[in-house]
Amino acid sequence: MAKLIGSVGTSHIPAIGGAIAKNLQQDPYWKPFFDGFPPIRDWLDTARPDVVVMFYNDHGLNFFLDKMPTFAVGAAQQYNSADEGWGIPTLPPVQGQQDLSWHVINTLIEREFDIVTCQEMLVDHAVTLPLKLLWPDSCPVQIVPVCINTVQFPLPSARRVYAMGRAVGEAIRSWDSDKKVLVIGSGGLSHQLDGERAGHINKAFDLQFMNSLLTNPEWVTQYSIHELVEKTGTQGVELLMWVAMRGALSAGGTSSLRKVHSNYHIPISNTATGLLALEAV
Ligand code: DHB
Ligand code: FE
Repeated sequence: MAKLIGSVGTSHIPAIGGAIAKNLQQDPYWKPFFDGFPPIRDWLDTARPDVVVMFYNDHGLNFFLDKMPTFAVGAAQQYNSADEGWGIPTLPPVQGQQDLSWHVINTLIEREFDIVTCQEMLVDHAVTLPLKLLWPDSCPVQIVPVCINTVQFPLPSARRVYAMGRAVGEAIRSWDSDKKVLVIGSGGLSHQLDGERAGHINKAFDLQFMNSLLTNPEWVTQYSIHELVEKTGTQGVELLMWVAMRGALSAGGTSSLRKVHSNYHIPISNTATGLLALEAV
């Protein structure tokens, strides 16, 4: 069976793509953010995952307000990057892992998560940036994208997202393959891009959330979506991606988790950036 080796939760912000393109990693504004990644890259160089299951939220690119699935799983051979165009160079398509996609889709439907299946799917910065940050030179992994709606209400609850992530973890662990799989949660942490509270950041909540993933991953499921928006901002609810990611690790079989590395830096653009890598040991 396939092996779930661990997880990486990271923020995604379009400006990161611009900073990479301009080689600004050592610039004083960017350094505290980019410095979080080398220890995680070192771990991945040794652990060598073959496949990434990427929990991410689309930003109105592949899904718009006319059609907005709560959960959608990609089953494409490749995923073309078509970001919303904040000056980011076009990245090459990301390769899909269709066998695992269909196994995840079948498992989720069996477990009564009635997801949307996408045999074509454009991806945005939420998918491409974590891959570029973890593998700056060339991307060695195939992906299975799992999209969670954080754009148009009603949004799924943290409790539901955790359960969905758990079912994805069960699918990974029951996949008849000798491949190694990493799960990524791409989003958050606290940020609000618009409205009266634009710029809202909640460091205390973010740090408590990150700590809870090690010791008590269901802590966040006590909060409703509206409470999470209140605490973390309208876009801070992207932390649901981390909730799904952690749910996947909780699926049967993980005896313990080792924290590989974490980082937290405020702000990049309007966002409190979090980074956390956990190894399933
Ligand atoms: C920003 C953050 C996001 O999560 C996003 O999708 C777009 C922009 C920002 O802080 O600029
Ligand atoms: Fe976002």
